[in-house]
Amino acid sequence: MSGAIMRAERAGAPLLAALHACAFPADPWDADAFAALLAMPGAFALIAAEDAIPAGFVLARIAADEAEIVTLGVVPRARRRGHGTRLAAAAAAEAQARGAGRLFLEVAAGNAAARRLYGRLGFREVGQRRGYYPDGADALVLALALSPPS
Ligand SMILES: CC(C)(COP(=O)(O)OP(=O)(O)OC[C@H]1O[C@@H](n2cnc3c(N)ncnc32)[C@H](O)[C@@H]1OP(=O)(O)O)[C@@H](O)C(=O)NCCC(=O)NCCS
Repeated sequence: MSGAIMRAERAGAPLLAALHACAFPADPWDADAFAALLAMPGAFALIAAEDAIPAGFVLARIAADEAEIVTLGVVPRARRRGHGTRLAAAAAAEAQARGAGRLFLEVAAGNAAARRLYGRLGFREVGQRRGYYPDGADALVLALALSPPS
């Protein structure tokens, strides 16, 4: 499935919050939280759209030669159409272009959909954080090696 990937500037915080609330209804982050995240050095956010309708988002941060996907989600109606994969790949490409050598993220151990998506992109488990999430679930730390831009 194709679709546009757009950069979200700081004014996009309310849209990011709305998409996050759809993707993570049990733990919505508000617009102020996204504005604060976007204000962090090295932070960037991308939005995937389908027929000009926002379908998903990723917010990532680059610090020196490492990058992190802070949050990524796709609204339920638009899932299984490749948006999550394209968002993660676009974040990896941006991090690589800005000189990051590795891209990290945390994923709940029981999140089979996300683990499969990231595994298919080449992410590998590099650590675990016991009881990392508010509900007590464990997180896996995944990393993707990024080759230097040519
Ligand atoms: C995880 C999530 C981002 C996937 O987004 P998506 O746009 O549906 O993902 P894609 O269409 O790119 O799927 C890529 C692959 O991931 C795997 N996958 C995705 N959803 C899956 C599911 N529900 N069950 C099993 N595998 C799944 C499949 O291998 C899929 O490829 P396929 O459709 O060819 O089988 C989405 O389900 C979501 O937003 N979930 C809630 C928030 C979340 O968990 N975010 C990630 C936190 S780290």
